[in-house]
Amino acid sequence: MSSILLVTSSPRAGASISTRLATKLAERFAASRPGTKITCRDLIAAPLPHIDGDFLGGLFSSEGERSALQQTLVDVSDQAVEELLAADTIVIGAGMINFSIPSALKSWFDYVARAGKTFRYAETGPEGLVKGRSVYVVLASKGVYTKGGPIAPMDHARPYLKTMLGFLGMDDVEFIDVEGVGLGLEPDEDILGRAENRLDLLTDRVLAV
Ligand SMILES: Cc1cc2nc3c(=O)[nH]c(=O)nc-3n(C[C@H](O)[C@H](O)[C@H](O)COP(=O)(O)O)c2cc1C
Repeated sequence: MSSILLVTSSPRAGASISTRLATKLAERFAASRPGTKITCRDLIAAPLPHIDGDFLGGLFSSEGERSALQQTLVDVSDQAVEELLAADTIVIGAGMINFSIPSALKSWFDYVARAGKTFRYAETGPEGLVKGRSVYVVLASKGVYTKGGPIAPMDHARPYLKTMLGFLGMDDVEFIDVEGVGLGLEPDEDILGRAENRLDLLTDRVLAV
């Protein structure tokens, strides 16, 4: 491990479970491998704008033809793509919002999904180009979706994350689920304690390699 990209996206600032645990995991990975660099992409402190006509127009024109705004937006995307490609480990913090991922994180995917850079269309279909990375997603939700039951199909965060990461070539994805905090079905300390244990196990595993 030499370069970690930490992507955080919860709008809940200091109250965020996913931001706290994802940051902790990235820092623990870094501490276990001296010389590791963490690049932080805080999508709340520095939100990416929704993609729009200027961005798309910029993508489909060559460098000299772009307006200043188009060029700025393409530069934003290029930088996000460079950060992603430079990382061998990606740690994402996401809290479920209205049964999906935070819109800030959706925007990030919209900027890093770039034909020819992070995916391409091969003869056999789409091929992700961000291969060989280890991805860890801390996914926090108030509801409990991973145990089945009537609300399980309402989770559009995990399937979307798996699809999008896979589309870009990232198949080695581990979810650290933190479900049910504040729900009252189980003491919050137990849920958070389990998540902390999971971080311990993941850090030990990285240390053992
Ligand atoms: C605006 C908003 C919408 C939410 N929508 C859902 C939801 O659809 N399903 C759910 O299980 N939890 C939902 N929650 C609860 C959050 O997923 C939960 O608080 C989680 O811990 C958020 O992640 P964070 O702690 O990293 O901010 C919502 C919270 C907020 C603030």
